[in-house]
Amino acid sequence: MLRLIITGTPGTGKTAVAEELGRRLGVRVVHLSELAELAACGYDHARGSVEVDLELLQEAVEEHLSGDVILEGHLAHLLSIDDARVVVLRCSPEVLERRLKARGYSGEKLRENLEAEALDVCLIESVERHSRVYEVDTSHRSAAETAECVIEIIQGKGERYLPGKIDWSEDFFR
Ligand SMILES: Nc1ncnc2c1ncn2[C@@H]1O[C@H](COP(=O)(O)OP(=O)(O)OP(=O)(O)O)[C@@H](O)[C@H]1O
Ligand SMILES: [Mg+2]
Repeated sequence: MLRLIITGTPGTGKTAVAEELGRRLGVRVVHLSELAELAACGYDHARGSVEVDLELLQEAVEEHLSGDVILEGHLAHLLSIDDARVVVLRCSPEVLERRLKARGYSGEKLRENLEAEALDVCLIESVERHSRVYEVDTSHRSAAETAECVIEIIQGKGERYLPGKIDWSEDFFR
């Protein structure tokens, strides 16, 4: 059974990569952003985003866990999913800045996300909660190429994607 979590800082390409994987593997994709309404507990006006209650999100996700599934979203690694493989998508702050600006991010929201990526937040949170964690650098890969890397991981050939090989600190904290 495949239980694959695709997580990462906004803009790293989770949705694009998960859709590519879903098509190639014929596996159902659950976009957690689509469940966020069921799990909403407020609205953060400063950030312009829905506040999500993790317990409610967990409940909403449980209904989708039968059979092979890909769970995609920046909170996906915070859920308790038995036997999950977790792939954290990474992107160099320089490239991520371009992607997020192209999506209209600016100011505090842009800065917060770049900092979270530079500080490995999703990776650290993933390793704290799951035993099978991998990270793939998407900076110079298309969504299709990134999906290829994830397929290698699923096939048990993911040694080169084990955590600890990616470090943005020199780019970011200059
Ligand atoms: N590997 C990639 N190379 C270049 N651009 C990419 C890549 N993956 C995604 N993009 C582009 O970056 C932007 C963000 O991609 P996407 O929406 O898939 O990110 P996300 O991680 O799902 O973000 P969010 O957390 O906000 O949902 C999109 O404009 C997408 O076309
Ligand atoms: Mg997305």
